[in-house]
Amino acid sequence: MGLGIRLLLLLLLVGAAAAAAGSKEEKGSSGGGLRFRRGSGTFKVVQVADMHYANGGRTGCRDVLPSQVAGCSDLNTTAFLYRLFRAEDPDLVVFTGDNIFGEDATDSAKSMDAAIAPAIDMNLRWAAVLGNHDQEGTLSREGVMRHLVGMKNTLSRFNPEGVEIDHYGNYNLEVGGVEGTMLANKSALNLYFLDSGDYSTVPSIRGYDWIKPSQQFWFQQTSSNLQTKYKEEQPKQKEPAPGLVYFHIPLPEFSSLKAPHFKGVKQDPISSPSINSGFFATMVTAGDVKAAFVGHDHLNDFCGKLDGIQLCYAGGFGYHAYGKAGWSRRARVVSVQLEKTDSGEWGGVKSIRTWKRLDDPHFTTIDSQVLWSRGSNVGGY
Ligand SMILES: *[C@@H]1O[C@H](CO)[C@@H](O)[C@H](O)[C@H]1NC(C)=O
Ligand SMILES: *[C@@H]1O[C@H](CO)[C@@H](O)[C@H](O)[C@H]1NC(C)=O
Repeated sequence: MGLGIRLLLLLLLVGAAAAAAGSKEEKGSSGGGLRFRRGSGTFKVVQVADMHYANGGRTGCRDVLPSQVAGCSDLNTTAFLYRLFRAEDPDLVVFTGDNIFGEDATDSAKSMDAAIAPAIDMNLRWAAVLGNHDQEGTLSREGVMRHLVGMKNTLSRFNPEGVEIDHYGNYNLEVGGVEGTMLANKSALNLYFLDSGDYSTVPSIRGYDWIKPSQQFWFQQTSSNLQTKYKEEQPKQKEPAPGLVYFHIPLPEFSSLKAPHFKGVKQDPISSPSINSGFFATMVTAGDVKAAFVGHDHLNDFCGKLDGIQLCYAGGFGYHAYGKAGWSRRARVVSVQLEKTDSGEWGGVKSIRTWKRLDDPHFTTIDSQVLWSRGSNVGGY
């Protein structure tokens, strides 16, 4: 490499680092926690579903066009992550399971490190839940979750402390209001993460596992406590802070949504558990949940509203995951906007928007929609 080119690369790197540092400044933080941004009053989450990462450059792509097979590997999934993070500059990245495809991973820990690396490299904060394939390699489900919570920049947690709970990786994150405002010390947005398990262990029930009563009880208690704090402590708020829920396997209720009553496409059957464990009813009853986000069915990417809750798929992200040749790999973005109070400062959440980013030549944005808006009943059909 010539001196001129090396100098150019160095300048580019310095420039990129300065740009990254500049955007970090704008991102709110609260003692390592999450916060809305002061300038824009927004908080943005990027959901990455089903990377199915295995051994990097040695693992080929599935379901791409014949012309795309040569030179396609897990590294294309990595490149998509970088591209996505640069374009969206998210406040949080959520990996919703099947992050690695255990069966094809020679070393699960190494695969996970490689899969998540772009988020860490770009100094983004991230959270992950398990899918049904993460544990199929050299680590158990418990082992995979323990590895995830030990990684850099993660906000993932193993499970709540002092509570007996099924599965691994049930936790919640609070997103504080803008620093210096009335809601600075309150959680203006609540994020819930649950482990939807892998396969049923009850001999008479076939198929996928489900969100257990212990998890639902924890969720219900957590939601209730957060709502009490938000509404009872000064400055008291009238309505609960909105909640968003992330897990891997869709609930049976996703099947209730039929075209044209959703935005996006349904090209896969809904692979939910064969029994209904009641988590949808639990979420509706809790009263704060505005949307639930899953992965698992790579060819579904729709959002539709049922009983006041938007049920959303992200669509498949990874190139080693099954997909559909010619149908771009994609990610779901959620942008939450605060409202301006009468005194002109940022208040509570006003609206929640979503769209998808396609890994196509133009990096197209599609299906932008409002999932929820304070005081109105938008998003229904
Ligand atoms: C995978 O990455 C290679 C190298 O950058 C690129 O040439 C190729 O077009 C990518 N394939 C797909 C399907 O995006
Ligand atoms: C938030 O907490 C900080 C630190 O304890 C305090 O200085 C500030 O006054 C609090 N803000 C509000 C609006 O309660």
